[in-house]
Amino acid sequence: MTTFAGLWRELEPLGRDGATGGYRRFSWTDADARCRAWFAGRAADRGLRVEADGNGNLWAWWGPRGPGAVATGSHLDSVPNGGAYDGALGVAAALAAVDLLREKNFHPERPVVLAVFTEEEGARWGVPCLGSRLLTGAIAPEAARGLRDDDGVTLAEAMAAAGCDPALIGPADDLLGSIAAFVELHVEQGRALAPLGAAVGVAAGIWPHGRWRLSLHGRADHAGTAGIADRCDPMLPLARTVLAAREAAERNGALATVGKVTVQPGGANAVPETVTAWLDARAADEPALAETVAAVRSVAAKASAEHGVALGVRRESYTPPVRFDERLRERIAGVLAAAGLGPAPALPTGAGHDAGVLAARLPAAMLFVRNPAGVSHSPAERAELADCEAGVRALAAVLEDLAGLCAGGTPNWPGCPARACAATC
Ligand code: HGY
Ligand code: MN
Ligand code: MN
Repeated sequence: MTTFAGLWRELEPLGRDGATGGYRRFSWTDADARCRAWFAGRAADRGLRVEADGNGNLWAWWGPRGPGAVATGSHLDSVPNGGAYDGALGVAAALAAVDLLREKNFHPERPVVLAVFTEEEGARWGVPCLGSRLLTGAIAPEAARGLRDDDGVTLAEAMAAAGCDPALIGPADDLLGSIAAFVELHVEQGRALAPLGAAVGVAAGIWPHGRWRLSLHGRADHAGTAGIADRCDPMLPLARTVLAAREAAERNGALATVGKVTVQPGGANAVPETVTAWLDARAADEPALAETVAAVRSVAAKASAEHGVALGVRRESYTPPVRFDERLRERIAGVLAAAGLGPAPALPTGAGHDAGVLAARLPAAMLFVRNPAGVSHSPAERAELADCEAGVRALAAVLEDLAGLCAGGTPNWPGCPARACAATC
């Protein structure tokens, strides 16, 4: 037994909507504050030193902050009405893995640090993995400070209201330079592990994907008197665009989704003036993704012109294809096999993660925990307790390997001097 179940009983209710069972843990809101306070409290209970970087990402250090640290963790924010496990599982499992290692009297030879990244979903500010992108310099601080939520509140205003100084956001190269490897445990999103009978998998890579904001501006009018031929109704080009996205995705073996639409002024008896929609597009490779997005943009432009609607398209975020560090991935597979927790299938994923952002700067890897139905970004997201515990044991074994010494007495990762002690490495 691990301590995961107890931790999960505490975390699971935070930010949950009693009516839908879904979560609204948007960053820099009360629900987020409760989750962060829970993490900071549980980390402190374990003697970990908790600090926040200038972006609001939390870091709980087991051992003094120093070079060669092994990091793990995930995020606590959610999509609107999201599931319980996305992000939260990786955070709770990290705390439980520390407990498991302490129980076996393991003492890390290098610092171990637990991370909680802010705004991974981009549900409030529109840019996914915002905390890890700021940390790694993948987005300019000034651009981030001005991001506005649906109520017009800027990130800077929300951070200040939460007591954090927005002037401090930005890259933290010294912190990044102290991390030798990052391993994120995450609930599987999709259903690959169940058919393989595996409780735990490892990520091979992340599909390229992005988010585009479509603004369609027409002319407001009366629903009951404006003649059909006289209208500049932005809803029509949007409808054509949504259908085109599905067709382009099918043609290119890609994924395209329009899951968020806002309508202004939003009167049931008024032709809309402006419709704003977000296209989420993903594909196994960049040519397929580019072809899908180009096809959608072409239909949107043509249909907007036919309806006298002004179209604006802005790419709000883009993640190039991620290949996780092969050496680290092989090492993890070996550790899981030796611990009797393998074989852990290597899976590609279309879901973005902070590990994918960090992979551009340091060796990163991901462990997936089986999701029986494969559903995510929904209250129906599930993972069995036994599989979560298997994930904790897998993460603990990986941390022990990466933060321990090999039989030759040298740091396993990456300090191992070119496999001097070939026997164990
Ligand atoms: O959208 C994603 O891929 C992730 O859940 N942020
Ligand atoms: Mn997610
Ligand atoms: Mn996630």
